[in-house]
Amino acid sequence: MSLPALPRYSQSVTEEFATQSADETIELGRQIARELKPPCLVLLRGDLGAGKTTLVKGIAEGLDAASQDNVTSPTFTLIHEYRGPDVSVFHVDLYRIDTPRELETLGLDDLIGENRNVVLIEWGEKFPRFLRERDIEIRLERTGADDRKITLTTAATDCTDHTDRIR
Ligand SMILES: Nc1ncnc2c1ncn2[C@@H]1O[C@H](COP(=O)(O)OP(=O)(O)O)[C@@H](O)[C@H]1O
Ligand SMILES: [Mg+2]
Repeated sequence: MSLPALPRYSQSVTEEFATQSADETIELGRQIARELKPPCLVLLRGDLGAGKTTLVKGIAEGLDAASQDNVTSPTFTLIHEYRGPDVSVFHVDLYRIDTPRELETLGLDDLIGENRNVVLIEWGEKFPRFLRERDIEIRLERTGADDRKITLTTAATDCTDHTDRIR
């Protein structure tokens, strides 16, 4: 399986992938990582067990921030940080966060938009601001025991294309 280079258009683009094992999803994450140029905000959407955290294993490894085995779910800890030489990956799980006030205590505003940060949020769609602010949305759907459909949508101006962005 190989990921075609994500088109670098300044318009919203959708790409669809299918994986047949957790390892294939991790490999897809590694390939997506190659296209990410921080600062970057990525929303991960899908039911419990869809494979959001599994995909993060590949993305964090691809960004040289962690090995896949060291990436675990931040369900209870809420935020995990993986610091690589060039990129810091922040993996956030908002499943247990329900109010704007609780959200504020996490201090995500200090992380999002920082030059070296890739911020990956599970259950971010609970808060409309993340739907507006996200550069990339990745949806995961369980289509069989080990089958997943993975749909990646980039925002009009996303973090895979900086050529037209004033920084
Ligand atoms: N194709 C696949 N992609 C991702 N995970 C898969 C796949 N097939 C089976 N799995 C399993 O599904 C589970 C996904 O869990 P996890 O990544 O924690 O989901 P989420 O973070 O969406 O709740 C893992 O146990 C993983 O091994
Ligand atoms: Mg998870």
